Amino acid sequence: MRLISLSMLKPDMVLAKSLYHRDKLILKEGCDDLDKHANALKNLGFDYVYVEDHISQGIEIPDAISEETRVSCKRILRQTIDDFENKTVVDLSDLSETIHNIIDDILSNEEMQVSLNDISASDEYTFAHSVSTTVYSLLIARQLGYSKIMLEKLAAGALFHDIGKILIDKKILNKVENLEPDEAEYIKQHTTLGYGVLKKCLNLTELSRIVALYHHEAMDGSGYPTGIKAGELNEVVRIVTVADTYDALVSDRCYRQRWNSNQAVNYLIEHAETKYDTKLVSAFIRQIAIYPNGSIIRLSDNCTGIVKEQNKNFPLRPVIRVIADANENEVEAYEIDLMKILSITIIESEIESNFIKY
Ligand SMILES: [Fe+2]
Repeated sequence: MRLISLSMLKPDMVLAKSLYHRDKLILKEGCDDLDKHANALKNLGFDYVYVEDHISQGIEIPDAISEETRVSCKRILRQTIDDFENKTVVDLSDLSETIHNIIDDILSNEEMQVSLNDISASDEYTFAHSVSTTVYSLLIARQLGYSKIMLEKLAAGALFHDIGKILIDKKILNKVENLEPDEAEYIKQHTTLGYGVLKKCLNLTELSRIVALYHHEAMDGSGYPTGIKAGELNEVVRIVTVADTYDALVSDRCYRQRWNSNQAVNYLIEHAETKYDTKLVSAFIRQIAIYPNGSIIRLSDNCTGIVKEQNKNFPLRPVIRVIADANENEVEAYEIDLMKILSITIIESEIESNFIKY
C-alpha cells in the first residue's frame, strides 16, 4: 500500500483503504477502476488515496487506531460540534465510549510506529484534524506513562482544542490568500472563544477546557492568547500543542500543501525549547515513522526505493524495497535493510511528484 495524489493514479492501482465522506462509505477498498472516479473524488475535496500497485504490494501502513474507531469518532464528533453550535447545554456521554475505544486501540498497539495520515476530504478537515490530534496526543502521553483517567482528560481536551473555530467567520478561516494582521488577530480569538464554548458542557473537566484556551502558547512566552510561558501550564496542554502542530503541518490546507513527515518532524525539532517542550517532541518522534511505510525515497547511492517497514528505535533506517537503479531505470524489486547496510542513507523522502513514472 502507498499514499499517492489523485493526479498520479495509474490503471494498475487498486484502492487500498475505503473512502468515507460525511460518514458515508463512497468507495470501497479493492475498487480497481480508480482513475474513472478521480474527478468525482477531486470534486468532493479529496487529494490523496491509499493504493496498492506492483511496487507497493504487501506493504502495510499502520494506523494507531482502527478504521472503525476513526470513522465512528468523526461521526460522533460531527454531532457533538453541531450540539455546541445549537444547544445551550451539551452532553458528552455518547463521546465517552468513543474516547475509550481510541485509548484501548492505542494501548494495545504499543510496538507500532504510526505511518498513517488521515486523508479525508478538505471539508472534513475539522473532524479529521481533531481525531488525529487526539491520537498523536495519546501516543505522547502513553510514552510518559499516563494513567487511563489522565488519558481520558487529555483526549477530551484534544478533541475540542479548536472548538472556538465554530464562532469564527468561515470566510476568514478558509481564506487562501495571506491574512491581514487584523484577520490573524481575529482568528487567534478561537482560543478564548473555545474555552467559553466548552462551558456549555457540564461533564468536562477544567483540565480539558484549558487545552482550548492555551494550546497556542509557547515555551518562551511568544504564543497567544496570554503569552504565558507554556512551561508554567499543565503538561497536557503542551502535549496537545505538539500534536496539533504536527497534524496541521502534514495536512493539506487551503493556503498550503501538506508537508511530509520528515519536514514536519524537523520543524518540531528546530522549534523545540522556544515553542515546544523538547521532552514531548522527542517522545512523539519515537512514536511516528519519519519515513512512513509506502513512501518513495531516494538513497545515497541514487537508487530509488519504497519504505517497506520500520526498524523499531531507528526511525532513520527502515527496510527499503529498491525499485529503480541510479539511472532511474526500474529494476526487479529487492530489499535492503538500512540497519544492516550502514553505508547507505536516505537522502530524499516522499519524492512522488519528481518521479512521475513510478
Ligand atoms: Fe488552534
